[in-house]
Amino acid sequence: MTLEILYHRPILAARLSKLIMQVAVGSAASSGVFLAAPRRTGKSTFAREDLRPALEAAGAIVLYADLWKDLTKDPGVVIVEAIREAVGRNEGFITRLAKASGMEKVNVGGLSFSLDKIGLGKDIDLTRALIALSDESKQMIVLMIDEAQHAITTDDGVAALFALKAARDELNSSKHHGLRIVCTGSNRDKLAMLRNSKDQAFFGASMVQFPTLDKDFIDWFCANLDLEHALDPSEVFQLFQESGYRPELLGAAADEIRFDLTLNPQAIPTRFAVLVRAQADELNANLKKVIHSLTPIQSAVIRVMSAKGESYAPFEAPTMELYAKAMEKAGIDASNVKVEIPGVQQALIALQEKKLVWKASRGVYAVDEHVIVDLLREDGLLDDLS
Ligand SMILES: Nc1ncnc2c1ncn2[C@@H]1O[C@H](COP(=O)(O)OP(=O)(O)OP(=O)(O)O)[C@@H](O)[C@H]1O
Ligand SMILES: [Mg+2]
Repeated sequence: MTLEILYHRPILAARLSKLIMQVAVGSAASSGVFLAAPRRTGKSTFAREDLRPALEAAGAIVLYADLWKDLTKDPGVVIVEAIREAVGRNEGFITRLAKASGMEKVNVGGLSFSLDKIGLGKDIDLTRALIALSDESKQMIVLMIDEAQHAITTDDGVAALFALKAARDELNSSKHHGLRIVCTGSNRDKLAMLRNSKDQAFFGASMVQFPTLDKDFIDWFCANLDLEHALDPSEVFQLFQESGYRPELLGAAADEIRFDLTLNPQAIPTRFAVLVRAQADELNANLKKVIHSLTPIQSAVIRVMSAKGESYAPFEAPTMELYAKAMEKAGIDASNVKVEIPGVQQALIALQEKKLVWKASRGVYAVDEHVIVDLLREDGLLDDLS
């Protein structure tokens, strides 16, 4: 499957775009919309290729910030750059901003107004920049933040979110034309941290379980595959579900078949299934290896965190008891071990280094990927721990 060829979901995009732009009575959509779906299932592709055009078609200006595109850049900076880029697209925006910031004469072609003036703690804050965009264009602004959870891992990221909250409240007043913030991410628990507590920037925003690619995608995939032997879409859909709705696994299996010049066409469907399953197993096997090499306390911590989900509080007394229970269940004699806070802290650090656990800037933890929780649950390792 070549990467340029994409399956589009215009109906889903139109529905979501309506949900984002038109706020119904009593709806929290103006606080922001969060879209969560597992890793590698097509979130970013959908956001860029389907949702963005749908929002634009519905009359919005769309700004896109991908916080994972360049991990060396602070997420706060990436958000600021997305806004600068939008302002820089149009002379009218620049002129208005320059005037608003007290410049008498504006020489747009020259250097008298620099977009660098826009930023956190700069001459022009994000609210003013977004207001200029809104007033000049008279359009609603939709800011899409991909991998938004990354913003709360740094101070500038958190500051940017708060600046956006202020901008959102101002732009959603009747004087302007509205600002909607759409956050996507792979992990529901992490995303939820952006909106769960009152001191977070997106308190009350709606969380939407983003639909994975469906049977129609598989029909499209099978119809366009062009192998020497056709594949049965219902069998392929079964494989797709088993392997976590990840299009790449299907694409890679098809490529392997294409390049296997000795393969008898009749054998293609069976071979395809074997290849897809082998890749999915390999991904899980690597993860299982890491999980099985944990120390008893590390294992107890990740199991309790997985079982507790959003309500996980690492150092509270009932949680400490659960760690002890988890260790006992793993066959460790509880009279021999005492679970104490420093031990839990060390385990949390080790789990972060192994990329099993993720930490937000203010000491809140989440399991890094939901598949870890699924694997633990499948092995019965989460029973009686919540
Ligand atoms: N609609 C689609 N049609 C064809 N291929 C797709 C489609 N959506 C996604 N893919 C393929 O699936 C892979 C993952 O897509 P994408 O990067 O959009 O997923 P993601 O959920 O954002 O992943 P991540 O968790 O890494 O951010 C890519 O190789 C992409 O080409
Ligand atoms: Mg992505």
